[in-house]
Amino acid sequence: MPIIAPSLLASNFLNLEAECIMLNESKADWFHLDVMDGRFVPNISFGLPVIEHIRKATSKTLDVHLMIEEPEKFAAAFKKAGADILTVHIEACKNLHRNIQQIKELGMKAGVALNPHTPVSLLADILHELDLVCLMSVNPGFGGQKFISHTVGKVRALKHMIKERGLKTLIEIDGGVTLENAPAILHTGADVLVAGSTVFASSNPKETIEKFKAL
Ligand code: DX5
Ligand code: ZN
Repeated sequence: MPIIAPSLLASNFLNLEAECIMLNESKADWFHLDVMDGRFVPNISFGLPVIEHIRKATSKTLDVHLMIEEPEKFAAAFKKAGADILTVHIEACKNLHRNIQQIKELGMKAGVALNPHTPVSLLADILHELDLVCLMSVNPGFGGQKFISHTVGKVRALKHMIKERGLKTLIEIDGGVTLENAPAILHTGADVLVAGSTVFASSNPKETIEKFKAL
């Protein structure tokens, strides 16, 4: 059964409490929280105070996806705000190994995200340190974009690297995931599906989540 992580980027910010209650009552496993700084990506979303409030509204895992430069400056603050998993972009980290150690020392699970152009082979010497790899299947910065199908081959290659090393690292796919393309993504070895617009723009989000879980 896949882990389903709805992205609140597509939720109704004017009624975040109701969205949290809906997700709590749903079969969603994690809350996927997209933090953007307007520097690493050409958009700004939400940050620490919003996550602090979401923390109070759920006991489910908070999967925080940092699309920010210099994430090391904020790791402790995100821990304090309630993050369970902290994912940083490989393209934003000059000292990735140090950043991963920092996240783990703070008591969070550590993830690394890769943009569509970044090969999975770059993870060869860090994979054994990671709890999660987030493969971006759209260019980060916006919800509602089209799935880049090349990602499926990356999932296959990454799954092979994980198995070869006997690791338990989870593969998360983020961007443009729909009920139509999810079966193929899962078939190649993904463990976690992030879904923003597919969940929140549907007429019955709880039912949509249930359909993802049943794949
Ligand atoms: C994109 C974000 C994604 C996004 C997914 O920068 O990282 O998590 O919210 O949204 P959909 O599912 O609409 O592509
Ligand atoms: Zn994301």
